[in-house]
Amino acid sequence: MTNVDMGRHWAGSASGWVENEAIFDAIFAPVTRAILDAADMSEGLRVLDVGCGTGTLLAAAGAAGAACVGVDISPGMVAAAAARVPAATVLLGDAQVMDLVVEAPGPPFDRVVSRFGVMFFADPVAAFTNLRRVAADGARLVFACWRAFDENQMFTLGTSVLAERLEPRPKPPEPNEPGPTAFADRDRLAGLLLDAGWASVDIMPFDVTLDYGFDGADGVETRLATVLSVTTGRTAYETLRPTLTHEAWAQLLDDVRAELRRHLVDGAVKVPAALWLATASKRS
Ligand SMILES: C[S@@+](CC[C@H](N)C(=O)[O-])C[C@H]1O[C@@H](n2cnc3c(N)ncnc32)[C@H](O)[C@@H]1O
Repeated sequence: MTNVDMGRHWAGSASGWVENEAIFDAIFAPVTRAILDAADMSEGLRVLDVGCGTGTLLAAAGAAGAACVGVDISPGMVAAAAARVPAATVLLGDAQVMDLVVEAPGPPFDRVVSRFGVMFFADPVAAFTNLRRVAADGARLVFACWRAFDENQMFTLGTSVLAERLEPRPKPPEPNEPGPTAFADRDRLAGLLLDAGWASVDIMPFDVTLDYGFDGADGVETRLATVLSVTTGRTAYETLRPTLTHEAWAQLLDDVRAELRRHLVDGAVKVPAALWLATASKRS
């Protein structure tokens, strides 16, 4: 998949992320916090958020007093982020190739950050090189990304019920293929960052629980909403829904709910997430 195909994918996915922004904000709050802490986010820094999505990290960095620029390949995401964080500059484009010196004029960036936004590049070395080019000497790169597909129920819990009904059945991603788990291999990720000229590369396991019961409910409807908003759920909605009666579709959703209820932890949907927290710096 080139970034053009990936851009098309994310253009289509934006509505699900925008509709469920509050859910993603809540379940990923510990990830946002960890990135801000590792970036030592503070007043006066100039920050670039890569794959900024609907703008959670932009908002958080802005609240810490940073001057923020976001870049995202998906028009729907860019519109949402720009509306949410009017003080930020939000650019529509491919972070792998965009000339950020021209598109985001100003001093070089003190921080380049991302929450799950850097695993989709067709050419990660080119992308991280492009990002390093606009970073200040000594600038810090900080991002969170997923470890292996098999280590992360995020990709299967509830979703598997829909996947079983799809023809062809969605396959797990190939190792290293651009997508959420492209950087599962820590050594490979370290090599990519070093090849892109970043220094002091440090990639630490970051284990966190994504609590879908954040609002005091059991999180079943909340998880179901997000399952339906991402790839397999959207495909199921688009391809199965028109072929099923209203009752059969409702039954399928009930099957997803039943699967989620079988996996409640302390009365709520809680998904253990196996992530990497990666940091690096630009040699001064
Ligand atoms: C999993 S979402 C994460 C969004 C956001 N950072 C968050 O945590 O909510 C990945 C984001 O990366 C963006 N993206 C993917 N490839 C990109 C590229 N080549 N350049 C810029 N953005 C990209 C997508 O459009 C999407 O918004």
